[in-house]
Amino acid sequence: MKIAMIGTGYVGLVSGACFSEFGVEVVCVDKDEEKINKLKAGECPIYEPGLENLVANNLAAKRLSFTTDLKTGVKGADAVFIAVGTPSRRGGGHADLSYVYGAAKEVAEAMDGYTVIVTKSTVPVGTGREVKRIVAEARPDAEFDVASNPEFLREGAAISDFMRPDRVVIGTETERAADVLSELYRPLYLLETPIVQTTLETAELTKYAANTFLATKITFINEFADLCEKVGANVQDVARGIGLDGRIGNKFLHAGPGYGGSCFPKDTLALVQTAKDAGAPIRIVETVVDINEKRKTQMAEKVVAACGGSVANKTVAVLGLTFKPDTDDMRDSPSLVIVPELQKAGASIQAYDPQGMKEAAHLFEDVVFCEGPYETMQGADVLVIVTEWNAFRALDFERVKSLLKTPILVDLRNIYNLEDMKRAGFTYYSVGREALAAE
Ligand code: UDX
Repeated sequence: MKIAMIGTGYVGLVSGACFSEFGVEVVCVDKDEEKINKLKAGECPIYEPGLENLVANNLAAKRLSFTTDLKTGVKGADAVFIAVGTPSRRGGGHADLSYVYGAAKEVAEAMDGYTVIVTKSTVPVGTGREVKRIVAEARPDAEFDVASNPEFLREGAAISDFMRPDRVVIGTETERAADVLSELYRPLYLLETPIVQTTLETAELTKYAANTFLATKITFINEFADLCEKVGANVQDVARGIGLDGRIGNKFLHAGPGYGGSCFPKDTLALVQTAKDAGAPIRIVETVVDINEKRKTQMAEKVVAACGGSVANKTVAVLGLTFKPDTDDMRDSPSLVIVPELQKAGASIQAYDPQGMKEAAHLFEDVVFCEGPYETMQGADVLVIVTEWNAFRALDFERVKSLLKTPILVDLRNIYNLEDMKRAGFTYYSVGREALAAE
């Protein structure tokens, strides 16, 4: 089989490379010539563990290729996947679908023979039907179907999420289209991966339901963390205590500074708009959006409290800038609010992130970027862990204390346990657990 993947971002590049690993001939198309030239040379423009090798192997096997010429890519393709960006539109939060519709129009003009046009990007309910209208208008003669095949890839785990998914969701209108997509995902049959065959709108809404539910689950435990701090409970034990209930599950119950990334923030906003426009507002997600946004400022306040109520003329060492570990993605990262809030309160910031600093360099002002975790804490008054990179999980506490002016650690990801921090003599603030004051 041959497919074209339109868009070589986090979703398109991973999906294209994984399909080629399945043995499918994949042509990845992007308008960005520089990005395409890098990919042709086997260079990945994004950091995703394992992606560089996967691209190189399939490039060498000639199953994967890259081009800026959409016509070439689409020619002879059994399916064309639209995996372009759907950022939040300025203001309201609606998804900006101009790239999706633009791609659909170009695909329409390039199609030769029956083609399934698949939206892989996260798109509001009804987008597939609009793609169908656009294509039919451009090519009344063409034989084609549209389909929705949302991805559930987590950055940092995207390849394993593609290769061993909990399920594949496919929304189609005809048997013929469903058969083409089932054929594409045949290698997953060996793993007995559940395939949910449904309608266009249902597949589109399922993606939003998944992401907004996960965002709600995180926000639920984050609010319980605040309550735990007030009543002297331990949110990690609460999370474990409820997570062992099979109906709840233990994933996505880690309290922290709030969710970020390229998906949860934009998908919650888009779903809220879709629901309002449809006259069936989803108020619980509206509340989740509001809570999550305020939480990031709340985290800066936690740092100020850990420093006795003021960070004026103090130096704050920040470990972790990306929205989660194992990615270089800074989109909607809590650090983008926490750092400026601390600067507004008079702090100077020294920061380090294993992968995010290149991206972060033009997102912050007056931040001193350091070579590593220990250089970052040199002479600082307080150490704040914002992202739970493995590199921060086994710090040498004696060395940390020797580098900090005062042994204050604010751990926004609950990496460390209270007993160790008590023994090590830190003033230790975390999320949803008691605060410790150094003797
Ligand atoms: C998410 C969905 O998981 C994925 O299925 C979808 O396709 C894209 O969006 P991603 O945004 O890459 O993936 O990261 P994820 O691991 O889901 O984390 C999202 C945010 O939630 C991060 O900021 C993370 O720090 C936060 N989070 C996650 C928590 O605060 N607590 C948790 O327990 C889990």
